[in-house]
Amino acid sequence: MGKSKVLVVGGTGYIGRKIVKASLAEGHETYVLQRPEIGLDIEKLETLLSFKRRGARLLGGSFNDPKSLVEAVKQVDVVICTMSGVHFRSHNLLLQLKLVDAIKEAGNVKAPGSSTATESKKYENKQ
Ligand SMILES: NC(=O)c1ccc[n+]([C@@H]2O[C@H](COP(=O)([O-])OP(=O)(O)OC[C@H]3O[C@@H](n4cnc5c(N)ncnc54)[C@H](OP(=O)(O)O)[C@@H]3O)[C@@H](O)[C@H]2O)c1
Repeated sequence: MGKSKVLVVGGTGYIGRKIVKASLAEGHETYVLQRPEIGLDIEKLETLLSFKRRGARLLGGSFNDPKSLVEAVKQVDVVICTMSGVHFRSHNLLLQLKLVDAIKEAGNVKAPGSSTATESKKYENKQ
């Protein structure tokens, strides 16, 4: 399989960390969204730095700044969103629509991923 430029959104989360590592291990050029909203969350910052040490590239972007999402999406050809979204944080499901809008506006993504790796794979296989 060819190599892709992969953007992981929600990369410091439980699933996101696994996806970032797997993407790097598969040799894909891997980008991780770094949201300014994480502030000085040391655990997240350390996770992001560890990704960088492994070869990932960090892209600044915020769900409060649609243009920054579009710019981040334009760098890649695959987007995998691993944001938390179900159960008590259901508002994040709607937040993810901003990412869908950014993908549509950027117009370059060939395989947008949904919130789980399985769903994302299913989508990719349909293309
Ligand atoms: N955990 C599991 O065992 C499991 C199993 C199957 C499916 N899933 C699904 O996989 C997805 C991720 O689950 P998870 O357990 O990895 O979630 P998580 O660790 O709670 O969080 C994932 C990431 O979502 C991002 N996020 C949270 N709030 C946000 C906000 N307001 N705006 C933008 N980004 C926000 C954060 O990423 P950044 O701070 O890095 O941006 C966070 O690290 C969910 O849809 C979940 O339902 C999880």
